[in-house]
Amino acid sequence: MNPIPTNPATQALAASLAPLPDVGGPAQPLLSVRGLYKHYPLGKRSGTVRAVDGIDFDVRKGETLGVVGESGCGKSTTSRLIMSLVQPTQGEIVFDGLAVGSRQLPMKEYRRQVQMVFQDSYASLNPRLTIEDGVAFAPQVHGMSRSHARAQARELLEAVGLDPALFGPRFPHQLSGGQRQRVNIARALALKPRLLILDEPVSALDKSVEAQVLNLLVELKARYGLTYLFISHDLNVVHYMADRVLVMYLGRLAEIGDVQSIYRHPAHPYTQALLESRPSMDPARRRERAPLSGDPPNPIDPPSGCRFRTRCVHAQDVCASTLPPLVEAGPGQQAACLMAQPGSGWHSPQSLSEVR
Ligand SMILES: Nc1ncnc2c1ncn2[C@@H]1O[C@H](COP(=O)(O)OP(=O)(O)OP(=O)(O)O)[C@@H](O)[C@H]1O
Ligand SMILES: [Mg+2]
Repeated sequence: MNPIPTNPATQALAASLAPLPDVGGPAQPLLSVRGLYKHYPLGKRSGTVRAVDGIDFDVRKGETLGVVGESGCGKSTTSRLIMSLVQPTQGEIVFDGLAVGSRQLPMKEYRRQVQMVFQDSYASLNPRLTIEDGVAFAPQVHGMSRSHARAQARELLEAVGLDPALFGPRFPHQLSGGQRQRVNIARALALKPRLLILDEPVSALDKSVEAQVLNLLVELKARYGLTYLFISHDLNVVHYMADRVLVMYLGRLAEIGDVQSIYRHPAHPYTQALLESRPSMDPARRRERAPLSGDPPNPIDPPSGCRFRTRCVHAQDVCASTLPPLVEAGPGQQAACLMAQPGSGWHSPQSLSEVR
C-alpha cells in the first residue's frame, strides 16, 4: 500500500528538495510579523478573546528568538498564526522579504520552509506508521520517491541520535518521551525547513532528558543552518537557548531584545517580575514577597492602556489612558512601558515630590 500521490512534476521538484536560497541576504529578517491580531469571537453576549492583540517583531536569520510569558498570553496562538494553522484577524507575515501567500511565495512553498515541534511528543506521530515511515511521509507527499525518502529518514534518525536500524522499524508507543521528541525533530527537518518553531519542546520531559534534547537542538541548528523560534515558560531554558528574547503579556509585546541585556537589565516591570519569580536554588537569596501575584486579567476584557498596569507596582493614572509603544530601553532592547519613554507623562516618584 502506498497512499502517497506520485505526480511526475512535483517528483522532479522534490528530487532536489532543498531549502529555498537566501533571498535578501543576512541583514534581511527571515520572518517579519506586522500588526498581527487574532481575536476569537465567542458569540454576541460573551465577547471576544483577544488572544493576540497587535504584535510586531522580526526573527533574524540564524538566531534563536525565545518567547516567554505566563500561560494564556498568546505564545501558541502566535506560533499557529506563523504556521498559518489559523488565519489572522488582521496583520501580515513576511518571509525573507516575500509576503506569505503571494504569487512569489505560495502557501504550499512557505509551509515547507517553516516546521513545528510541539510539547506533546505523541500527538503529532501517526501511531500506525513505523518511525522510519513516519519521518519519510511528508517528503513523499511533496513528491520525493519512496526509496529516497526512506534513505533520508534513516539519515535524519542518525542525526537526532537514534540508531536507524534499531528505531526505524519501531512504532511510536515503543519509544520513550525523549526518543519520540527526537523523532518529531527528525520529521520537522525532513522537508529541509529554514525556520523551526519549537513550542515548549522539552516541557514534558524529565530534567536529564531535557538537557540532552536542548543540546541536540543546538547542534542541529548549526549543522543545518536553521533559525529557531523557541517558546518556553522556563526562563532558564530560554536563557540557555536564545540569542534574543520576546516577552509577551496578554496578547501584546512587553519587551524584546538581546537575551543578556534583558536578563541583566529588564526594562519592563513585567519582565522584572517574571525574572524575580524564578525559583532560586540559593536559600539565602529567596525573596521576601512574591513579585508577581495572582493571574493575568481575562483577555476578553483586558485593562485599558498598559495591559500590565493592574499588577504593576509602578502604575500611575497615565498608564490607564495610554497604550505604551515599544521604545528603545537600552542597547539592543525595546520595552512597551511609559517609564522607558521620556515625556510619556509617567513621573518617577522622586520627581513628583520635587514638583510638590
Ligand atoms: N480556538 C480558540 N478559541 C477561543 N479562545 C482561544 C482559542 N485558542 C486560544 N484561545 C485563548 O487565547 C489565549 C491565548 O492562548 P495561547 O494558547 O496562545 O496561550 P499560551 O501563551 O500558548 O499559553 P500556555 O503557556 O498555557 O501554552 C488564551 O486565553 C486562550 O484561552
Ligand atoms: Mg501554549
